[in-house]
Amino acid sequence: MNPTEKLNARDNTEPGLNYASGYHAPVLCNTVIQGLVTQRDGVYVDGTLGGGGHTAALLDALSASGSVIAIDQDEEAISEASKRLAPELASGRLRILKGNFGDMALLLGSAGIDNVDGILLDLGVSSHQLDEAERGFSHRMKGPLDMRMDKDQPFGASELVNEMEESDLMHILFRFGEEPKSRRIARDLVKARPILTTEKLADVVRWAAPRGQEAKTLARVFQAIRIAVNRELDVLDQVLMDSVDLISTGGRLAIISYHSLEDRRAKHFLRTGNLEGEVKKDMFGNKLTPWAEINRKPISADQAEQEVNPRSRSARLRIAERLDNTTL
Ligand SMILES: C[S@@+](CC[C@H](N)C(=O)[O-])C[C@H]1O[C@@H](n2cnc3c(N)ncnc32)[C@H](O)[C@@H]1O
Repeated sequence: MNPTEKLNARDNTEPGLNYASGYHAPVLCNTVIQGLVTQRDGVYVDGTLGGGGHTAALLDALSASGSVIAIDQDEEAISEASKRLAPELASGRLRILKGNFGDMALLLGSAGIDNVDGILLDLGVSSHQLDEAERGFSHRMKGPLDMRMDKDQPFGASELVNEMEESDLMHILFRFGEEPKSRRIARDLVKARPILTTEKLADVVRWAAPRGQEAKTLARVFQAIRIAVNRELDVLDQVLMDSVDLISTGGRLAIISYHSLEDRRAKHFLRTGNLEGEVKKDMFGNKLTPWAEINRKPISADQAEQEVNPRSRSARLRIAERLDNTTL
């Protein structure tokens, strides 16, 4: 059985839900760990620690000499996961670093690590971040307009919505939300300033949205602003490019994305080694890429998982293996 067949033949139920906590339920947990780990004694990076579900599963899948470096930019996630994983931290099998995965090469370098056997990126925000009204991520909650994953960042959604030029705001809604009414919404937002709460932002968007399209428009606008505030696509591009040097031959990169902008990038990169998805060939016509895709089609959560964890519905998992072509 080749690796893709093995992944497809996996047990159809997702026992990874055992790793769920009140903070967050890890998506496709069992599948991603099976697909990611090729060296039980290896060093793995969880670039998106969150509630620590995937990290816990990863530690369980590794041998006593295997280890995990987990990164998150959110202090609350680090504090929660540190409590949950206190024994693994104490044993030295787990190290937690606060920072942005866009700076992964620097963060690992400062921890004395040049190469790892695999990297997991479970993108976006955690259920906890969405459910905390104070964080300002959700249009369903009344809270301050914030949306920063890293509270040390000086610039949040309020500054963006209230201080940006209308044309820049429109560009953000169009580019990061693929919002067809971006021009109208940007105009209404500027007129309604100051907008200091999620509730007021949601009201303005609802008013500007075509009738019957309110829910989808809200989701797109909140997504766009969140992506811009946290520079989500820029830092994803950065870690993808850095992963080529960080992952040893035979090691793997696993990416769980939740919207098409992320998944498109992951697909292009894991297929071709560049963000444009441009296939490059050598003079003999051989494809030049640092990766072998493990699954060509993205893996989705099965029905059973989607029922227990609705957040898993939009998840798309892609995994690729680092090839032995260090000169690329
Ligand atoms: C979907 S949750 C991960 C959940 C986690 N896999 C679990 O099992 O609980 C995403 C987490 O990654 C963090 N995050 C998102 N983008 C990040 C980035 N660029 N750098 C560091 N952490 C990031 C968020 O703060 C959040 O805690």
